[in-house]
Amino acid sequence: MAFENLLIEIKDSVYVITINRPDKLNALNISTIREIGEAVADAAKNESVRVIILTGAGPKAFVAGADISEFSSFTEAEGAALARHGHNVFNSIENCPKPVIAAINGFALGGGCELAMSCHLRVASDNARFGQPEPKLGLTPGYGGTQRLPQLIGKVRALEYLMTSDMMNAEQALQYGLLNYVTTPDNLMLKCMEIADKLIQMAPVALAGIIRSVNAHYDKNSNGFDQEITEFGKCFITEDFSEGTQAFLQKRKANFKGR
Ligand code: COA
Repeated sequence: MAFENLLIEIKDSVYVITINRPDKLNALNISTIREIGEAVADAAKNESVRVIILTGAGPKAFVAGADISEFSSFTEAEGAALARHGHNVFNSIENCPKPVIAAINGFALGGGCELAMSCHLRVASDNARFGQPEPKLGLTPGYGGTQRLPQLIGKVRALEYLMTSDMMNAEQALQYGLLNYVTTPDNLMLKCMEIADKLIQMAPVALAGIIRSVNAHYDKNSNGFDQEITEFGKCFITEDFSEGTQAFLQKRKANFKGR
């Protein structure tokens, strides 16, 4: 698939999406958000893909937010539609049945922080900076920041960062629980590929069930415990379960097919 604002590379079952607007610090205009949704859907349905990595082009930014130049004269209805579109795409990342890793290579501000938070795992380079500076612009966050930041770092810290527009550095973000790992810029993709390699050894049906079960906890219309019971039961009729248990008993490496 070819995109105007994204670069796509598939290497060893890993689908790498690079947001490619480095001159604008990879700011998310509407077409970039749409393309991210299309790329994630493409990766989700591609049977040879096991893991998705999302990153930004250039050494400075993952994503420096929504594209401010695009919405400065929007009406209330246009603003709400923009947020709804962002929510739909970011929810599709969070609900993607394949693990999505954010490789955060610099500024992750506003929509960039929200995009990273919609991914399942987050690895940052030590030059990364995180924040929700929307109040400086007379805005609230619009792509899930008021919901996911408290989920990840707790209400007390989240309210402070949401209301002050302060940025946190990578070490703080790691300490607060926003990140899985911090590494050097040179090592960022290597670290993400190392995690991807581990995920590729796991049964895809189980990873999808884990994602659905964990997400159900945060969905007011679902019960995470019930979801877990359903997912556990569903595993028993999959080839992956049969392969995983046989491989264990035969003392060999499992060869999962994701069905
Ligand atoms: N929307 C649109 N353009 C953006 C952008 C955004 N969110 N963030 C950066 N850019 C553009 C700048 O306008 C500039 O474009 P130009 O060269 O055509 O003038 C280019 O990216 C480089 O940014 P610049 O501000 O010159 O870099 P800097 O190193 O001085 O500052 C930031 C970096 C991230 C601190 C600064 O760009 C910034 O504050 N960006 C906006 C962050 C934000 O408020 N995000 C939330 C949006 S809802």
